[in-house]
Amino acid sequence: MASGLRPNVLKMTPYTPGKPIDEVKRELGLTEVVKLASNENPLGPSPKAVEAVRAAAAQMHLYPDASGYELKVAIAEKFGVTTDQVMIGNGSDELIHLLGLIYLEPGDNVVIGAPSFVRYDAAAHLSDVELRAIPLDQEWKHDLAAMAGACDEKTKLIFLANPHNPTGTVLTHSEITKFLDQIPANAVLVLDEAYYEYSEGLADRLDSVSLLKSGRKVVVLRTFSKAFGLAGIRVGYGLASVEIVDATNRAREPFNVNSLAQAAAIAALNDSQHLANSFQVNTQGLNRVAEFMSARGYGVVPSRANFICVDVSPSGKTGQDVFDLLLREGVIIRSGGPLGMPSHIRVSIGTPAEMDEFFAAFDRVMG
Ligand SMILES: Cc1ncc(COP(=O)(O)O)c(C=O)c1O
Repeated sequence: MASGLRPNVLKMTPYTPGKPIDEVKRELGLTEVVKLASNENPLGPSPKAVEAVRAAAAQMHLYPDASGYELKVAIAEKFGVTTDQVMIGNGSDELIHLLGLIYLEPGDNVVIGAPSFVRYDAAAHLSDVELRAIPLDQEWKHDLAAMAGACDEKTKLIFLANPHNPTGTVLTHSEITKFLDQIPANAVLVLDEAYYEYSEGLADRLDSVSLLKSGRKVVVLRTFSKAFGLAGIRVGYGLASVEIVDATNRAREPFNVNSLAQAAAIAALNDSQHLANSFQVNTQGLNRVAEFMSARGYGVVPSRANFICVDVSPSGKTGQDVFDLLLREGVIIRSGGPLGMPSHIRVSIGTPAEMDEFFAAFDRVMG
């Protein structure tokens, strides 16, 4: 008998998160497990955010501020935009979902890179629209010419993560500006900068906020989950035109960002010391992985995010094989298989000690 469920929903694959530490301990009887799988901040949250959450906890019998006023003021001041250009969400995941809800109608299409962050697919499928996934180029970067060529008068949204997930690759400001000149006026370019803070110092670094201010049709998405270390409390933000933010306010749930998350985000936003430490540990970790792998004959995809992909094919093993082998050693990474890079593994950057564990385990299983 027909279930009555939407076929497009049944076609979707549930999100597979990085394997939880406790599950691996239980399943494999291990006591020590290192998780380098979910692109979290290995330094933990900003101590100022922890303090702010403690203080806010006494008020959790009250509904949160539905408008997120103070957080929006803090974000607007930081980027020199007005508060009605700021949206906040239960992670930037929610903002991706909301953009799908406010834009997509049957007959429209969405253009993305392949592979890309999985939630872009969901935004398209949930609205029953066509997804045009354009393969990345030889360097694992977006093929902007091909993506522009895939757009037509029915393209509503283009999702582009920069730095990209799962590859960690980046495009320059000049490249993105040129791309904007090539796409049709009906398309909104969503610049998903979940890993923005890690690309500090890059030459010709994308300045998405200036593109927005100059009237380009872009939405900027950022998150507190990565460099700010607040993945567990779920808060992300977006910068866009007043019209787009207004539409998300109509579509969103009234209390989409809880009060503890709002307090944590305000405190974390201006903890420049924690951010600087996070950047430094990450940069060192990325360099260490690149050196370690190159000394053993494995190539890495140059990354400006808080993870790095390693091509393990010279070993004759797949990313999934290496994932399985490392798991037994108590090191959880990501197999590139489900991420669309079967000959790679993706390793989130941990503390120096966690990276030591990873390197030792890698040598044991690949040696
Ligand atoms: C490219 C990209 N965008 C968005 C997100 C969602 O982040 P969050 O919902 O935690 O803000 C992630 C998380 O991994 C990501 O990699």
